[in-house]
Amino acid sequence: MTDLPSLETQFAARIDAAADLDALEACRIDLLGKKGQLTERMKTLGTLPVEERKAQGAALNLLKAAIEARLARRKDALATAALDAKLAADTVDVTLPARPVPEGRIHPISQTIDELVSIFGEMGFAVAEGPDIESDDYNFTRLNIPPEHPARQSHDTFYLVGKDGAQYGNVLRTHTSPVQVRTMLGQKPPIRVVAPGRTYRSDSDATHSPNFHQIEGLLVDRNSSMAHLKGCLVEFVRAFFEIPDLRYRFRPSYFPFTEPSAEMDIACTRGNGELKLGVGDDWLEILGCGMVNPKVLAMCGIDPAEYQGFAFGMGIERVAMLKYGIPDLRTFYEADLRWLKHYGFLAVDVPTLAGGLAR
Ligand code: PHE
Repeated sequence: MTDLPSLETQFAARIDAAADLDALEACRIDLLGKKGQLTERMKTLGTLPVEERKAQGAALNLLKAAIEARLARRKDALATAALDAKLAADTVDVTLPARPVPEGRIHPISQTIDELVSIFGEMGFAVAEGPDIESDDYNFTRLNIPPEHPARQSHDTFYLVGKDGAQYGNVLRTHTSPVQVRTMLGQKPPIRVVAPGRTYRSDSDATHSPNFHQIEGLLVDRNSSMAHLKGCLVEFVRAFFEIPDLRYRFRPSYFPFTEPSAEMDIACTRGNGELKLGVGDDWLEILGCGMVNPKVLAMCGIDPAEYQGFAFGMGIERVAMLKYGIPDLRTFYEADLRWLKHYGFLAVDVPTLAGGLAR
């Protein structure tokens, strides 16, 4: 067994030349496998005289260790090379401009909801949600609209009936205000939420759709005031309509669930079949608001002696029509591709305040 040095040289060369992991494995088997050249030599050790056996055994073990180390190094090198090749083949040019699918459009309602949520999100409002089917209790009674209250008439409510024709106290929510109730029952103040979503009223003409959308706002804290409500809404309309000096006014109004209540109007000018927002002597009503009625706080488990809140509610179609100059409410729901292509938004234009909302 004097051929060990040449065996080592021979295998070292094979290992270093192995082009891939398979070639490397073949090499390992030839030498260290069950019938490998080194294994065979190990097997004959028993036949040698003691002294020679010791010396040979040691030499064989050294060779084995050297080869194993070499195999491991080559394996590492091959793995690194394979990874480098894969990375080089997979490179993505991040400087390429985005190519949105040109046919797809975001519906103006979705876009407007994203814009509203992004503005109120910047002010610290979280998004809350509630179901389309509400109990009479949450949609009306706990909002200080008891049965027989005249405000129920003005809501054109869809009352749901069971298979037996009987009513079980469920309605399609007529506004997003029941999300106020759910939020107050479910969390402790301070509360700051906006709740966008579908709403339903049995009313259909050029300016009313039986299914439409609203966004609700609710803030409850120890010292919240009408001044905070006003500041919040003025900030909001100016950001949303992207008119920094937009003129507005608050008019006294009535809602059973707020006291005092107000409606907010924004200034406009009409003429030459055009509507200009933010300036002029005409007014457009855009939302209802007020301080949460203490009775409502109490019915929703919040102590009115300790907390006060403000709330507002706004029609999403209405503000979308004003902002984007969409003349007819009904077109929102017609799923007309030409309309969508004209009024829709590209999917890559995610609305953010920093990005200027819609571009
Ligand atoms: N829920 C009212 C409506 O649908 C709007 C509103 C919400 C008013 C919150 C005041 C406070 O007309």
